[in-house]
Amino acid sequence: MKGIGLQSNNMSVIDEIKQRIDVVEVVSQYVKLTKSGRTFRGLCPFHSEKHPSFFVYPERQSWHCFGACNTGGDVFSFIMKKEGIDFGEALRLMAQRAGVSLPSRSEPSAKKEEKERLYQVNEAAAQYFHNLLVSSQAGEKARSYVASRGLSPETITSFQLGFSPNSWEALKQYLMERGYTEGELLTAGLIIEGEGGGSHDRFRNRLMFPISDVRGHITGFGARALDDSLPKYLNSSQTPVFDKSGSLYGINLATAAIRQQNMAVIVEGYMDVITAHQNGFNNVVASMGTAVTERQVSAVKRLTKNMALALDADAAGEEAMLRGVGYENTLDAEVKVIILPEGKDPDDVIKEDAKIWQKLLEEALPIVDYTSNMVTANLDLTTAKDKTLAVDKLLPIIAEIKDTVRQAHYLQKLARLVNVTERKLEAALPKIKPSQGRYRAEEPKPEAVAQALRPVFSSPLEEYCLALLLQHPELKALSQHPSPEYFQNSENREIFVAWQQASDLSSLKAELDPAIGEHLDYLLTKSLPPNQIEEKCADAVLRLREGFLRSLATKREAALALEAELGGTAAELAKLEEQGIEVSLQLGEVFTQKSRRVRSKGAEK
Ligand code: UTP
Ligand code: MN
Repeated sequence: MKGIGLQSNNMSVIDEIKQRIDVVEVVSQYVKLTKSGRTFRGLCPFHSEKHPSFFVYPERQSWHCFGACNTGGDVFSFIMKKEGIDFGEALRLMAQRAGVSLPSRSEPSAKKEEKERLYQVNEAAAQYFHNLLVSSQAGEKARSYVASRGLSPETITSFQLGFSPNSWEALKQYLMERGYTEGELLTAGLIIEGEGGGSHDRFRNRLMFPISDVRGHITGFGARALDDSLPKYLNSSQTPVFDKSGSLYGINLATAAIRQQNMAVIVEGYMDVITAHQNGFNNVVASMGTAVTERQVSAVKRLTKNMALALDADAAGEEAMLRGVGYENTLDAEVKVIILPEGKDPDDVIKEDAKIWQKLLEEALPIVDYTSNMVTANLDLTTAKDKTLAVDKLLPIIAEIKDTVRQAHYLQKLARLVNVTERKLEAALPKIKPSQGRYRAEEPKPEAVAQALRPVFSSPLEEYCLALLLQHPELKALSQHPSPEYFQNSENREIFVAWQQASDLSSLKAELDPAIGEHLDYLLTKSLPPNQIEEKCADAVLRLREGFLRSLATKREAALALEAELGGTAAELAKLEEQGIEVSLQLGEVFTQKSRRVRSKGAEK
C-alpha cells in the first residue's frame, strides 16, 4: 500500500485529535476493561449482557461488540453512540480533551433557522406560563406554593418561573393562534401526540422552570407537580435544542458569578439553584438529577477550571468519584466535593442557615482527598492486609493524575498513610495499567510513536475510494456502492453518508461540520489516476469490502480463541462460530466477484 504517511505534513485536526487520544482510555471511562493479550474486553455498554463480548483494539484504535450489537468503529463512533451526540459534537468533546482547537462551528442555515424558531416558541411558552403564575386566577395555587417555598417575587421574575394550567390544550391553542404550527410544538416537546391521533399539552398543572443555555435561549422546561403526584418533575423530551444530560440549569444566570469567583458549584436540583441564587450564591448550577456528565463539566470548563460538586453521601460513591477524578484528568479541571448533611439538599441547608452552606463550601475537599478518605474510612491501617487494600485502591487513582506535582503530593500522602517509603510506591506506578478498569491519563503520544501509528488513523484505501466518489459525480449512478460500515474511520464514514444524501458538492459541504472540512478538502484535491474511473472505483469498493470483512474475521477469530481459552459456554461459542460462517460466506462472495473482474479484464485485452 503506497501513500501511507504522505499526508503527514498535511495533518488534519481530526488526525491530530486521534493522535492524542487513546481509544482504550476513552472507553475505560465508561466500561471496565480487562486486558487479554493484545486486546481489552468488557461488558458492552450499548446492550445489557452478563458475558463480556465487547472488545477494544489498541493497535487499530477501534472497538467491536460481538454480542447483540455486532458493530464497531473508532473512538468517535464510540462517543457518538455512548453520549447520543452527532459527529461534530463528538469531535468537539474529543478536541477539548486532546487540547486541539477546532474551527468554530457554523451551522447550515436551515438547521439554524429551525433552532431559532424553537427558541422563539419556548420563549413564548415561558412568557405564557410566567404571566399565568404571576397574575392569573388559575395560578393562585401555584402562587401560594412558590410562596410556601420561600421564593421572592424577584426570584420568580429572574428565573421566569411559570404555571402550566390544568388543561389539555391551553398552551397549544395560545401558541397556534400566534402562528406556531402543530409540528413545531411537537418538535419543541411542548405538546405530545395522544393515543387516538390528536395532540395535547405536555405540561399540565405544574410549576414551570424554563431551562436556558449559556446564551439565555430557552431550550426546554422542568415542571414540578404542585402536590405529591408523580413524576415529581417532568422534563422536556430531547429536542433539536434540548438535551438534559448536556444542559446545566441556571447557567445563563450563573455565568458572570462563575467567571468572577473563578469557581462553579454544581448541585442536583432546580430548587437548589434557585434558593442558592436568592441567597447570593450566584455561581450555582444544577445537573438536573443525573450524575454529572462529561459534557456538563466541559461546559463549565469554558468558564472556570474550578468546580465543586454538592453531593449527598449516596451520590458520592466510589464509582462516581472515579468518574470525577477522570474529569479532572481529561478536562484538566479541579474538582472538589461538598458532602451534604444526611437527608438534606442545598435548598434545605441554605434555607436553614446560609452560613452552614458557606462553611460547607469552604470545607469542600479536593476529589482525590475525598476519595482517599472514603476508601480508607473502614480500613485499619495498622494491619498489613488493609494497607495493601488501601494501596491497591488508591495507587491507580494517583497513577491517573496528570499533573506531576499533584501526583507527587498524593503519593507522599499515601506513603505516609500506609507507612511505606514513597520510592516504593513510585516504583509501582508504571506497572499500573488501564486494564485495572480505571481511566488512566497518558501524556500525548510522542511524535515518533504517533508517526508509527499513522496508518491506523488514516486508511489509504478508504480515502482513495472516497476521493474517487467525491471527485467524480458520475459515480453516484454506479450500482456497486460501498456500505457505510466499510469505512472504519468515523470522519470518512461521515463524509460518505453525507455524499449519499447530498445532491451536489455545495449541499454536501453545508451538511458537514466545518471541522471535517479540512479532511474533505484533502479528499477533494487528492490526486487520482486519470482514466477508467468507474472500473477503479468498483475495484476499490470491492477491496474496501474485502478489507472490512477480513478485519471482522480476524477480530472475531481472536474473540473466539479467547472465549474458548477462558471456557466460554457452548452458546457463546456457537454464536461466534455462526458470525464467522456469515463472514466467510460474504468473503467468498467477494473473491468470486474479484476473479470475475480479473477474467473480464483479461478478455478485454
Ligand atoms: P429531588 O427529588 O431531590 O428534588 O431531585 P428537589 O430538587 O429536591 O425538588 P423539591 O425540593 O422536592 O422541589 C433532584 C433533581 O432531580 C431531577 C430534578 O432536576 C430535580 O430538581 N428530577 C427529580 C427529575 O428530573 N425528575 C424527577 O421526577 C425527580
Ligand atoms: Mn429539595
